[in-house]
Amino acid sequence: MRTLASVEDVRKAINDWRLAGERIAFVPTMGDLHQGHLELVHHALTRAPHVVASIFVNPTQFGPGEDFDAYPRTLESDQEKLQREGVELLFEPSVEALYPGGAEETTRVEVPQVSRGLCDDFRPGHFTGVATVVARLFNLVQPDIAVFGEKDYQQLAVIRRMVRDLCWPIEIDGVPTVREADGLAMSSRNRYLSVDERKLAPVLYQTLCAVAEQARARQQSCRALERQAMKQLEQAGFSPEYVSIRHAETLRPVETGEMPARVLAAARLGKARLIDNVSF
Ligand code: PAJ
Repeated sequence: MRTLASVEDVRKAINDWRLAGERIAFVPTMGDLHQGHLELVHHALTRAPHVVASIFVNPTQFGPGEDFDAYPRTLESDQEKLQREGVELLFEPSVEALYPGGAEETTRVEVPQVSRGLCDDFRPGHFTGVATVVARLFNLVQPDIAVFGEKDYQQLAVIRRMVRDLCWPIEIDGVPTVREADGLAMSSRNRYLSVDERKLAPVLYQTLCAVAEQARARQQSCRALERQAMKQLEQAGFSPEYVSIRHAETLRPVETGEMPARVLAAARLGKARLIDNVSF
């Protein structure tokens, strides 16, 4: 596996494959890789002969006071994992390389409708930062396929919408959430949990599974189920930000019985902010 940090070197490497008409699958990440990320790589390997991954902790998607500085940077062990999985090229740019004019002043990509509500209410501007960096990475890597996790479900919807709106010939594949044995969605941020908080954390997933089951049974309105789940999470010791039942593609709120739907949630537990979602 080659690790490249410069935009020019990546362009050159990609160009050879493109001229030969060979397909490229791309897995963008912020590093600190776990099995969830590696599942995306496995999927990418089934989709194209060349798999490119990126590691870039993107400053424009972190708000003031968020964990940009504290975000784990574990390049060496990440490189080992990616190499072992069969990634051919790792792009690992500096902030200066990816935002030459400065991250603050950069051209931004805004995806209005799906970016609104849910996480955006608590992390304003986050999805503009995500869309901006992913757009830039897509232009450099020029993938035929890009792979994202369903764990970050609103992010996946934002990327799908951006690609459709900007007419990019890129297929976006979503990979189901990879979980710990007790159901907790794997995340780099789980390491912020204390021992006791870690024991409690799977209650988020359990709560969402219960909401999905009840919504499927259509016994109560979606809004009543959301309120009830918020209360349950609070009583369990979380500080829930939202629990919301949405249409699986448009992310618009749905009423009782509409499908395909997804129940999404974000909750704080100690220093960690956990997100998760379940389909029904
Ligand atoms: P990061 O949090 O590193 O996640 C990279 C990719 O891994 C995302 O597509 C995310 O949804 C996926 N992922 C994370 N945990 C997962 C799990 N438990 N199961 C399945 N997939 C999982 O998401 C980002 O980085 C950034 O916002 C990025 C898209 C790279 C733009 O900066």
